[in-house]
Amino acid sequence: MKKSNRIQRYSASERINHWIVAFCFVFAALSGLGFFFPSLNWLMNILGTPQLARVLHPFIGVVMFAAFLLMFFRYWKHNLIQRDDIEWAKNIHKVAGNQEVGDTGRYNFGQKCVFWLAISSLLLLLASGVVIWRPYFAGAFPIPAIRLALLVHSVSAVVLILVIMVHIYAALWVKGTITAMVEGWVSTSWAKKHHPRWYREIQRKQQENKP
Ligand code: HEM
Repeated sequence: MKKSNRIQRYSASERINHWIVAFCFVFAALSGLGFFFPSLNWLMNILGTPQLARVLHPFIGVVMFAAFLLMFFRYWKHNLIQRDDIEWAKNIHKVAGNQEVGDTGRYNFGQKCVFWLAISSLLLLLASGVVIWRPYFAGAFPIPAIRLALLVHSVSAVVLILVIMVHIYAALWVKGTITAMVEGWVSTSWAKKHHPRWYREIQRKQQENKP
């Protein structure tokens, strides 16, 4: 594709940041499912051995949280819910049929939901994870607090896994989206079709910067 038909969506540092989160997520989620379900115990070997998985899982979780926090500060403004988002949500059946709805900015309502659900579940995972983290912190908490934290940790992990499954499906299903996070660019036609308001903003900025 000609360079003139491309728009930069993510810089190299933004992409590295995102893929650190994604890799940590895969390792933390699979080893976590391995701890939880006896039939999935074999998944603990993804981190070498079950013993190693037990040691590494919480550290990977902390790295994921810290890396996501950087993403949070980069994108929270673009993910604030606006009036057009309500129209998008009301017409979700049209969106599912590959039709565009509303004057979408940098992110659509679905992406915004993924963003807020991801930060909420990661906060809960971190807080509950600290309470159940043996041998470092768990000793400081009473048994009922540990039981509650285990429940919160499991429920928020299931929520995050479901949310990220939707996120991956959308990233692969909407043609032309994956290059945004792999190579950093999208085509102008992709931007016009899926994020028309963002496209106009980029055009305006380019016009303003022209000598
Ligand atoms: C593991 C496979 C993953 C794939 C294939 C993937 C793919 C993508 C793609 C293609 C985009 C660009 C979308 C766009 O700009 O329109 C994106 C953005 C994003 N991804 Fe992922 N992702 C993955 C995992 C994750 C994980 C684990 C998280 C968080 C826990 C995450 C959080 C985000 C966020 C916050 C954005 C920016 C969108 C927004 O702020 O609303 N991704 N991802």
